[in-house]
Amino acid sequence: MDVDLLQLLETARDTAVSTGSLIRQKWNQPREIKSKGFRDVVTDTDMAAQKLITDAIRAQFPAHGFLTEEDDDDLPTDGPVIWVIDPVDGTTNFSREVPTFCVSIAAVSNTGRVLAGAVYDPMRQELFSAARGQGAWLSDQSGQRRPLAVSLVDEFSEALWALDWSRQQALRQSALAILNVLAPQVNDVRAIGAAALALSWLAAGRIDGYINFQLCPWDLAAASLLIHEAGGQLSHLDGQDWRYSTHDGGCVGSNGRLHKRILSQIIPISERSH
Ligand code: IPD
Ligand code: CA
Ligand code: CA
Repeated sequence: MDVDLLQLLETARDTAVSTGSLIRQKWNQPREIKSKGFRDVVTDTDMAAQKLITDAIRAQFPAHGFLTEEDDDDLPTDGPVIWVIDPVDGTTNFSREVPTFCVSIAAVSNTGRVLAGAVYDPMRQELFSAARGQGAWLSDQSGQRRPLAVSLVDEFSEALWALDWSRQQALRQSALAILNVLAPQVNDVRAIGAAALALSWLAAGRIDGYINFQLCPWDLAAASLLIHEAGGQLSHLDGQDWRYSTHDGGCVGSNGRLHKRILSQIIPISERSH
């Protein structure tokens, strides 16, 4: 494929950071919040952020396609590379002034390989990024960049796990079932409320595992590459290695050392929910 990975990476990074600045400017302003469905809201900032991202990428790569969380009929859907975008992951947090959310941008080949990705946390000004086969990095507020690596924790009793809630009632029951098994075994469990950011923290070794019973491709695309390049593992709920698809689905991620054990606990629960 005739694409320059590092050019994709640079575009993902620059666009994520400039979108983060826009979101920071909007942080202290009143939010326009609309319901999109059950337990699902969107704000004017999500829409403005998505427009900024897609305009910037289209200016640079006019032949590329898009898969975005917010509907936009003007965007092309096909191309040699598809940009998979969540302009604000953690909208409920953002809408309630909980300062934990991120921008997630991934460049995916039209054969479904995630090529480059960036996740930016506007409030902490942290940029997580990766290019396939080249590594993953965290750039902090001062601009210092270091490689990302998952934790070395290999005991459940030491593990800091995160789990986010699905919107659907039945899947919340599955989450409760795994919590019932997990919570007594691990050090602690968090609900971060921004899947892409939680998975970036997993890639950075800040947490050791992550579970979500239902996510969309834009929640996972960029972060999946961070985890892969940082030495972690990401699976579908049936235990298969995670592969990009345009379908929704759950995921379980870990530092790799805890993976077999969490899969043995989650697969039976996930099977019961089908
Ligand atoms: C949501 C967040 C949340 C997860 C939901 C996602 P959004 O994304 O990532 O942590 O549990 O399933 O939909 O709607 O804030 O972009
Ligand atoms: Ca999301
Ligand atoms: Ca979103």
